[in-house]
Amino acid sequence: MLVLGIETSCDETAAAVVSDTREIRSNVVLSQTAEHIPYGGVVPEIAARAHIEHVDTIVAEALRRAETALVNVDAIAVTGGPGLIGGVIVGVMIAKALASVHGKPFIAVNHLEGHALTARLTDSVEFPFLLLLMSGGHCQFLVVHGVGDYHRLGGTVDDALGEAYDKTAKVLGLSYPGGPAVEKLAATGNPKNFAFPIPMRKRGGCDLSFSGLKTAVRMQVTELQEIGISEQDKADIAASFQYTAGEHVAERLQHALKEFARLCPDGKNVVLAGGVAANRYLRGRLESVTQEQGMRLIVPPPALCTDNAAMIAW
Ligand code: KG4
Ligand code: ZN
Repeated sequence: MLVLGIETSCDETAAAVVSDTREIRSNVVLSQTAEHIPYGGVVPEIAARAHIEHVDTIVAEALRRAETALVNVDAIAVTGGPGLIGGVIVGVMIAKALASVHGKPFIAVNHLEGHALTARLTDSVEFPFLLLLMSGGHCQFLVVHGVGDYHRLGGTVDDALGEAYDKTAKVLGLSYPGGPAVEKLAATGNPKNFAFPIPMRKRGGCDLSFSGLKTAVRMQVTELQEIGISEQDKADIAASFQYTAGEHVAERLQHALKEFARLCPDGKNVVLAGGVAANRYLRGRLESVTQEQGMRLIVPPPALCTDNAAMIAW
């Protein structure tokens, strides 16, 4: 079976053809980064218009690279939400039009479910598994029992981790998208130079919080700007932010692992998903936590962590 997937919920116009035998026949992603850079973040209206301009060529390119045509596709899947509504409408309308004209089933897919199940496409991970989903808009722990069968253990009570990376990038004057820029700068900084408080230390459970850390970063930057902030200061702040965020997520993961062991004593797999899972430092930090507990950590390759249509087709 072959499925055409379309993803337009944020600032990537993407289409892919994936088979039910885990073969990614094509995976085309057009990033709109250049269009949003002048504004320091995604502008929903610009994103929606850019999707309209490019979605037909991207779909055609995905079919071409897969060496197939719409007549050979068994179904058309598209992100039906959550996401920026203008972009979601563009994707849904083109998918409905194609499905209607070619008489194919139309399948609306939850974007987060796409991220959640990617590790089954790339690594054939078996159910149940513990999922830590970290994207630009969401951050949560879920027990994944099966397709459509999710149990939420906890999530952020304020900002998503990707959002905290993006805001940190903005106050440091780094270009959008912030996550990769902060990760790169952090690699040259001293993570112990600024002691930002680790969130929720006194609270049990699996919830997370990043807004206090975001504010601490902003206040530190403002304070240093008054006396003149150096490039090394910026690198140290990026590193200290990333270290603190990593410690917080690692601590919460320990709580989530206990809960997962109670609910699914035979479960052995932990999966990271969403754009922030592309971060090498965090992967390493969370890998040490899972190894200590005798669990296996699975992270899809970076290009399948950030938004793409292969996960929607799959
Ligand atoms: O899953 P995604 O591509 O889009 C959403 O569904 O939100 O995630 C995008 C988020 C952005 O906040 C971006 O800054 C973050 O993922 N991100 C990263 C890295 N690459 C992307 N954050 C930290 N380190 C990275 N290397
Ligand atoms: Zn996403």
